[in-house]
Amino acid sequence: MRKQIAAANWKMNLTLAEAHELIDLLLQQPLSIEAHQQVLIATPFPYLIPIQQKLANSQIKCCAQNIASTQNGAFTGETSAEIVNSLHINYAIIGHSERRELFHEDHSVLALKVNQALAHSVHPVFCCGEPLAIREAGTQNSYVETQLTESLFHLDAEQMKQCIVAYEPIWAIGTGKTASSEQAQEMHAHIRAVIAAKFGSEVAETVSILYGGSVKASNAIELFAKPDVDGGLVGGASLNAVEFAAIINALK
Ligand code: PGA
Repeated sequence: MRKQIAAANWKMNLTLAEAHELIDLLLQQPLSIEAHQQVLIATPFPYLIPIQQKLANSQIKCCAQNIASTQNGAFTGETSAEIVNSLHINYAIIGHSERRELFHEDHSVLALKVNQALAHSVHPVFCCGEPLAIREAGTQNSYVETQLTESLFHLDAEQMKQCIVAYEPIWAIGTGKTASSEQAQEMHAHIRAVIAAKFGSEVAETVSILYGGSVKASNAIELFAKPDVDGGLVGGASLNAVEFAAIINALK
């Protein structure tokens, strides 16, 4: 069975003291994390080391929220995949819709970020997903396909297997409006078919495809029960230890 993954995306939230408190509370919850399951927490960069240390005796791993598109050099304020890897962090979110929209990250920059991640043993958690206008026009499948082809399809099959895809319809992020489990399944099956057409079905069956967009304890079981939904990328609800623990325990 491919990995079932619950990934927390803290975004730009929590002081360090609050982050410690949240992890303490999370570790007090009854968590069942099996060998085919993975829990990730994408913290702000400065917290990667302290939170990773705190998680050392758990099965939970830290994840970066972004990485640079270049290897190193005069790029003030950026953090490279090489730096992230040197902290023993092996996951990074790439292409979150907030990065695409607010920081103007386009397909080609994201392709470079994916290359940097893979060159430094960092698994990309590659985000895709359509805005509301595209969903209303009914063209979401080709929109998401373009996001995948433009930023991932230069990879070889072995590299593609290192990637995790997160489908996050923009109209569902932070809005409390979740895609229905049927809408999620339909898109996840499409994404898997697109990956299969390019890389073959063995690769497509290996890649975990997470759903993101207002995942909560109350909808996680139904979403994760769908055959092509391999877990979730969770924003708001991951800031609550009890909610996030329930989401972890909803993994297949
Ligand atoms: P949300 O965010 O769970 O708060 O909708 C998800 C995300 O942006 O990754």
